[in-house]
Amino acid sequence: MSSQNKKNVARPIGVFDSGLGGLTVVKELRRKLPNEKIIYFGDIARLPYGIKSKKQIIECSKENTQFLKSKNVKALVVACNSSASVSIPTLKKIFKLPIIDVIQPAVEAAVRTTQAGRIAVLGTQATIDSGAYQKAIKKKDEKIKVFSIACPLFVPLVEEGWANNDIAKKTIETYLSSLKSKKIDVLILGCTHYPLLKTSIQKFMGDKVVLIDSAGPTVKTLAEKVLLNQKSIGSNKALEICVTDFPRNFVKIGERFLGHKMEKVQVIQLSKGLLRGKESMVLSSE
Ligand code: DGL
Repeated sequence: MSSQNKKNVARPIGVFDSGLGGLTVVKELRRKLPNEKIIYFGDIARLPYGIKSKKQIIECSKENTQFLKSKNVKALVVACNSSASVSIPTLKKIFKLPIIDVIQPAVEAAVRTTQAGRIAVLGTQATIDSGAYQKAIKKKDEKIKVFSIACPLFVPLVEEGWANNDIAKKTIETYLSSLKSKKIDVLILGCTHYPLLKTSIQKFMGDKVVLIDSAGPTVKTLAEKVLLNQKSIGSNKALEICVTDFPRNFVKIGERFLGHKMEKVQVIQLSKGLLRGKESMVLSSE
């Protein structure tokens, strides 16, 4: 490999989400590709995206990508389903870098898995209304029957840490009971937060339904499309977390998604709703 190529593969992978939920994808990335440096960008100040208009989500996604581009990333992972469902064509048109979203890999895994040809998709209102999952599944196999349900209360439930209590169970039952009679055998968790409800959703749907969490398939796709770093890197250099706000409970929620302690976080200032390049160092989570 030439020294130029070596330099290129050592560049970081950028991951963005509307908040901290995308750290579920980072967790999988770090597990599977430990030599990759990751820059995570969470647009907490403008969260949630799931209830915003398509236009607003695209604007935020463009700015998030611009920011990560300025960090010299070699590839971008759009970990936010709400963003991925509406902004990918625009991002691909504007930015010249490999862009991997969470929808396509999850759809490929779901279509490969279903035997019954009946798949359900859960997501935010924006994701479900966009029809992105439905269209991507039909494109692969138009005979597959797709059932989609928006589950807006799942996001605050997870952030509260209520993944397995009675309220979580009741909410899951309320949203998903109509699915019970649909004879689905695959269910896509089409939102960054939903993997944390996996155990409760699996219990409600029963063992015969396979739950697809997009993190695994997304990392696999990334590894196939992007030149990877072969050299080991120090773990303290492996993850840089940038956010547009530092709210209460930040550390608790972030560490729940990431699965381990966060060491350092940078807050990116927003000026009139736009990202300003200025950064301020904030915390050590001890
Ligand atoms: N990250 C969002 C998603 O995956 C969920 C939170 C939000 O609504 O912004 O759709």
